[in-house]
Amino acid sequence: MASGEIIETIGTTDKTNGGVSRRGFIKGAIASGAAVSSSAYVFREQIGVLAQSPALGAVERLITLNVNGQSRRVDVAKQETLVMTLRYKLGLTGTKIGCDRAECGSCTVLIDGLPHYACSVLTHNVRGRAIQTIEGLERPDGTLHPVQQAVVDEQGFQCAFCMSGFIMSATALLEENPNPTRTQAAEALSGNLCRCADYNKILDSVMRAAEYTRGA
Ligand code: FES
Ligand code: FES
Repeated sequence: MASGEIIETIGTTDKTNGGVSRRGFIKGAIASGAAVSSSAYVFREQIGVLAQSPALGAVERLITLNVNGQSRRVDVAKQETLVMTLRYKLGLTGTKIGCDRAECGSCTVLIDGLPHYACSVLTHNVRGRAIQTIEGLERPDGTLHPVQQAVVDEQGFQCAFCMSGFIMSATALLEENPNPTRTQAAEALSGNLCRCADYNKILDSVMRAAEYTRGA
């Protein structure tokens, strides 16, 4: 059973045994990693329990993220990038990995409303921030976001691998400026690359999305 499943299974009961919280013990074990050394613990004679004292540099791995308006508990290694957490821990595969080194924009998500490359953000650094992925754009009733609808209407992409990144960047642009010029739109999307070089149709989509946004 994976460590995340163990937490799901027994982490909900917070019974204490001799003063040691069951949940606290498990969280401490995960925080310090599977190969933790006994030297990472300090024996506190005065209270007669083993206290968790993670080795220097260790971080708590079981954290809560705010993704698409929901609180998500997830087990995250300290060096893990946000795109890996979103895709492989939370199943949000709409966010793509292209270059994995801050060059292509395929992994763009919004953090507190601003576009970021999720391949270059450590997940631990976005605790408490509002993360939005392409899965969070559609309304609960299934209505597409204006940018999504415009992409459908303009058939703005070819292979569409770059699409979710462009849509997230365009969403941030229109939040800030619902009436951009084509040049302003091109500048706002300059951090996103399209290998199919479909830029004219992408810009057509953004300009159509701006119309929809103003209409709404
Ligand atoms: S995958 Fe993140 S910028 Fe290319
Ligand atoms: S449509 Fe193929 S990479 Fe952009």
